[in-house]
Amino acid sequence: MYQSYNYYQNNKCSNNNYLNCGYNNNNYFQELIPRLEEYIQDELQDSAYYYALAEFAPTQRAKDLIMEFGMDEAKHAENFQRAYSMITGRYYMPQPLKPIVIEDYEEALKIRVIAETNDYEKYGKEYLMAPNKYLQDLFFNTRTDEAKHAMRIPILFEEEAD
Ligand SMILES: [Fe+2]
Ligand SMILES: [Fe+2]
Repeated sequence: MYQSYNYYQNNKCSNNNYLNCGYNNNNYFQELIPRLEEYIQDELQDSAYYYALAEFAPTQRAKDLIMEFGMDEAKHAENFQRAYSMITGRYYMPQPLKPIVIEDYEEALKIRVIAETNDYEKYGKEYLMAPNKYLQDLFFNTRTDEAKHAMRIPILFEEEAD
């Protein structure tokens, strides 16, 4: 097994001193790998989506906010890549992104509120399952960003060009 994997496994107990310290984490890590691949892919797709959506923004403030979301999603992909490489010893090679089609700006914003709240729930579940402080922090912080996105999108509905 990779050195980084062993390091990661062996240190899981020093990072938290409570009940799940003793349980066998092998299944957890094996099952996390495909989920991380999916998350990296989704975060890259979301990032590209926001950069495309920013082109439709009616004001500079709206554009800045949407660009910030796009940068956050790119950062999430990067953070998940780091976790992925610690577990597997390599980086995930992303698939080509799906084409981005935006027909209506306000409709796109509504779709994003649903997507962001779903992500908030998804990473919250990951946080509750995570066996060490590193992964707990990773999922908690990602979850916080997704919540911020969902809570800030309503500002965009109010932003109109003069
Ligand atoms: Fe994200
Ligand atoms: Fe997000």
